[in-house]
Amino acid sequence: MRVATAVQLKGGTGKSTAVVNAAVAARARGLSVAIADTDPQASSAMWAAARGGAAPLVTSINARQLPGWLAENQGAFDLIFVDTPAHDTDTLADAARLADLAIIVTEPTYLANAVATRIQAAFVQEDIEYAILLTRTPSRLNQRLNHWLGLHRQLGTVVDAHLAYRVAYQDAVALGLGVVEYEPEGPAALEVRAATDWILKKLELVQ
Ligand SMILES: Nc1ncnc2c1ncn2[C@@H]1O[C@H](COP(=O)(O)OP(=O)(O)OP(=O)(O)O)[C@@H](O)[C@H]1O
Ligand SMILES: [Mg+2]
Repeated sequence: MRVATAVQLKGGTGKSTAVVNAAVAARARGLSVAIADTDPQASSAMWAAARGGAAPLVTSINARQLPGWLAENQGAFDLIFVDTPAHDTDTLADAARLADLAIIVTEPTYLANAVATRIQAAFVQEDIEYAILLTRTPSRLNQRLNHWLGLHRQLGTVVDAHLAYRVAYQDAVALGLGVVEYEPEGPAALEVRAATDWILKKLELVQ
């Protein structure tokens, strides 16, 4: 079993959206997947409620329960995504330490990048395996996006696909769907499959 945990200090950069979409895309690759939602805001759990109980399993737990829950479910799934609350350095660091891969979900803005850089430096110091996933980006590669991609690549490992700002993500979440289900041939589905495949390879869950 592998654990991939989405983290960011800044709120609203797209952690929950990335987690639910990657979970659906990983299932479509034939893996058994669950989501542990440790955010009291419960975005992933609300998505699961809209989904009406269809897999993946989404469990809402207190961050302090995470180590025990992961131990209990060791072997029950190929992959567990953990969604975490923003704004709390200690909680996100504790969750990241339990993960095989911490995914710093960030957006191409000065403020998001400033805190992503801080998290990344802490992870390097602690030897926590991490990758940066850029979300809510412009839909076309432009000078602005290139600037942020370049900066992140200098900083460290970057997921080799980014998620653009697209209403499909918002509409799919409201229906309890992943974009690969909502619009299988759409641009959001393509980028989610690419980002998920990168993560699955990094975790050695696929070749
Ligand atoms: N790629 C995207 N394109 C368009 N909208 C997006 C995208 N990703 C996220 N959003 C929207 O941005 C908002 C924040 O997204 P989300 O809740 O996934 O972020 P979060 O990091 O989990 O937030 P929080 O820190 O509050 O937990 C939501 O309204 C969501 O629908
Ligand atoms: Mg969230």
